[in-house]
Amino acid sequence: MEFQHRDVISIKDFSKAEITSILSYAQKMVPYAKGKKNTIILSDKILSTLFFEPSTRTRLSFESAMHRLGGQVIGFADPSATSQKKGECLADTIRMADAYSDAIVVRHPQEGAARLAAEFSEAPVLNAGDGAGQHPTQCLLDLFTIKTEKNKIEGNHVVLVGDLKYGRTVHSLAYALALFGAELTFVSPESLRMPKEVIQECKEFGVNLNNTSNLERAIKDADVLYVTRIQRERFPDAEEYNRVVGTYKIDLELLKHAKENLIIMHPLPRIVEIDSSVDLTPHALYFKQAFNGVPVRMALLSLIFGGTLI
Ligand code: NCD
Repeated sequence: MEFQHRDVISIKDFSKAEITSILSYAQKMVPYAKGKKNTIILSDKILSTLFFEPSTRTRLSFESAMHRLGGQVIGFADPSATSQKKGECLADTIRMADAYSDAIVVRHPQEGAARLAAEFSEAPVLNAGDGAGQHPTQCLLDLFTIKTEKNKIEGNHVVLVGDLKYGRTVHSLAYALALFGAELTFVSPESLRMPKEVIQECKEFGVNLNNTSNLERAIKDADVLYVTRIQRERFPDAEEYNRVVGTYKIDLELLKHAKENLIIMHPLPRIVEIDSSVDLTPHALYFKQAFNGVPVRMALLSLIFGGTLI
């Protein structure tokens, strides 16, 4: 198992054993992520965070993770303040980040952008979301959340609901959950179904898999409900978005059908799909899930830079 200097483009780049080992290392990072223990294992490293699309959690938790490990961060959150605005191509921007830092986190609206970036960079590239493609580090923190809350991933019945067509988090997560042997139910409007290729990959692991539009029925025997936002920015036409937004709303009424120990996750931001009254219930795990981005990204950065905790 060799992590040092590796690109992280897709969750499919990792084996089950590798993911398991990242998650165990992330567990050790929790007190460091909370600032209860300190380390400077990456004090000689600089991370670039290049965000060509909006981000709150992914960028801030990557930056927090790097700082908690004693490292430095450079980068941008708004490409319009960079030479992209003057017409510079992605490859050249990546070449610069490669020259100025030791690893590059990149988020970009185009699917495949992170893989392209990796071709122009000597330094490892970590995909922080490429269009409707993949979001591997979100997937790791999602798995970490399920593992810590439910003690295991396999055997859980996970319901993924919302925009399964354009949501990159669910593309990565469905694959990984199937790899670990979870049971999967996909709930979405007809027009936002999980892509066929993802379904095919999941089926290859031989897991139980259902597709439906009916959330009331699906929630009944769910252990984990993973809610997603309808990805407005990826819709070719606004009317189509208006037709589907608000299709699913998680509220206290719906939760009457749920198991007592159901956990509700969401990569965030949530817009209208989870009512704020749900935040106060023991089901709501999404803010803790967002915190988990720090220890998980600490573990990953540390492994990629070849560092270990004392
Ligand atoms: C997600 C993303 O950017 O794909 N957010 C995140 O990284 N936590 C989900 C979304 O934007 O809906």
